[in-house]
Amino acid sequence: MYSDTLNISYFRKDAAFDTLYPRHIRELSEMHWTALDVSLEASNFLAAPEARVLDIGSGVGKFCIAAGVYHPEATFYGVEQREELFHHAQIAKEQVGVSNVQFIYGNLMDLDYDQYDHFYFYNPFYENIEPKSRIDYTVSTSFELYHQYTLFIYEMLNKKPTGTKLVTFHAPDKQIPASYQLMDNSYSRVLKMWVKE
Ligand SMILES: C[S@@+](CC[C@H](N)C(=O)[O-])C[C@H]1O[C@@H](n2cnc3c(N)ncnc32)[C@H](O)[C@@H]1O
Repeated sequence: MYSDTLNISYFRKDAAFDTLYPRHIRELSEMHWTALDVSLEASNFLAAPEARVLDIGSGVGKFCIAAGVYHPEATFYGVEQREELFHHAQIAKEQVGVSNVQFIYGNLMDLDYDQYDHFYFYNPFYENIEPKSRIDYTVSTSFELYHQYTLFIYEMLNKKPTGTKLVTFHAPDKQIPASYQLMDNSYSRVLKMWVKE
């Protein structure tokens, strides 16, 4: 049951949701932003009462906003390094009227990960090794950054307690510590649900 203050007309289909954004952002949707059906399945796995879920590289907030609407019992946070994308995420959140979603502008390496219980990870570092997948030219990309970010997230995940949940989308398995057990997968194995043992 959705709250009366929510504008749920955006959730009929992806094209409706994407009208929250300007045209140049909509054009990136298919390749870079999580579709509504994937957000539903990922958030069904990650959400729990009072859980704090972080989207590592939240873009224009599509995963967090959808997940927040589908699961009002949890809070969804997103960290995004591109100021323009963060700005569009904030506007979209206000437009939808969802209150259990928070966006942070900054680099994922500057967060305190004790503040988050579970994680969503849509292969955010790929543009560092595949220039054709760049979103724009406002941030530096390099092989060095790819390795630095990958190692940082690997070590962060390894330190989290037993029971920490993770959903990866289009992410290589080698980026996930062996302490995480694969519980389920979907969409021809591109969406994977993991739990730390
Ligand atoms: C593939 S997009 C996914 C967006 C969003 N999670 C979604 O599913 O709709 C990955 C995002 O991660 C962001 N990102 C990559 N590296 C980052 C970093 N070091 N700190 C913060 N954000 C980062 C990129 O700017 C991009 O917006």
